[in-house]
Amino acid sequence: MFSLAGQIALVTGGSQGIGRATALVLAELGADVAVMARSIDKCEAVAEEIKSRFAGRRSLAVRGDLGVADEIKAAVDKVATELGPISILVNNAAITRDGLMLRMKRDDWDQVINTNLTGVFLMTQAVLPMMTKARKGRIINLTSVVAQSGNAGQVNYISAKSGIIGMTKAVAREYAARNITVNAVSPGFIETPMTAVLPEAARNAMLEQIPLKRPGTDMDVAHAVAFLASDKAGYITGQVVNVNGGMYM
Ligand SMILES: NC(=O)c1ccc[n+]([C@@H]2O[C@H](COP(=O)([O-])OP(=O)(O)OC[C@H]3O[C@@H](n4cnc5c(N)ncnc54)[C@H](OP(=O)(O)O)[C@@H]3O)[C@@H](O)[C@H]2O)c1
Repeated sequence: MFSLAGQIALVTGGSQGIGRATALVLAELGADVAVMARSIDKCEAVAEEIKSRFAGRRSLAVRGDLGVADEIKAAVDKVATELGPISILVNNAAITRDGLMLRMKRDDWDQVINTNLTGVFLMTQAVLPMMTKARKGRIINLTSVVAQSGNAGQVNYISAKSGIIGMTKAVAREYAARNITVNAVSPGFIETPMTAVLPEAARNAMLEQIPLKRPGTDMDVAHAVAFLASDKAGYITGQVVNVNGGMYM
């Protein structure tokens, strides 16, 4: 279908869920992949899985907290030194700290904005110089269906994820002339550790809203990310690609 041979990808939050699936699919298609998260043990397990399943592929586990600017810079430098200049950045990592508007603690707002929005800004800023030098790059940012539809109890998460849509379009316009595309992927309800903690009632309410009548899988999202990372998607930039079973049209 398409090959990512010779590409060097960095996937934030690659230790589990959608990020892990994305790291595996990018590697299967030929990319060398760096897997970044706070829990280095889980990143190492994914890197080992990549190397054992896909012969000849290089993979690097790198610890980094998106909430700490110095750690982002150090992680990106380590990947560039050990694997080479990053040509595909998947800004996937995110957290939730849900709560109704009037009850939401300032700290829950700050942590989510800092990790989910400022973290994406800093990652992108750290990687863009090497993409600019290569005059080629792919940036894929994970947003969410709730940024498009709204949802009670997630004002912090939705503000960050809506910000990501804006950031995607702004950076896409700034860097199009450098042959760097920037797109967002917007998952609906996907079965991952993030959604495993939802109460049964919330889960059923979500399922009722999905025309395709099933939750999404991490691979459903990973395949969309991989396409956007490929040469075949070279004329797509500044877009939001929905992977939501028709939940939001
Ligand atoms: N699952 C869904 O239904 C759904 C729907 C819409 C959008 N999304 C979006 O899709 C993306 C992946 O979701 P998921 O369900 O796969 O999430 P997940 O299973 O909760 O995984 C989140 C990943 O992010 C990492 N992470 C969290 N905080 C971090 C930090 N401060 N620094 C670095 N890494 C950090 C986690 O590892 P550590 O904890 O070890 O750092 C983990 O690898 C997210 O952007 C999410 O908002 C998911």
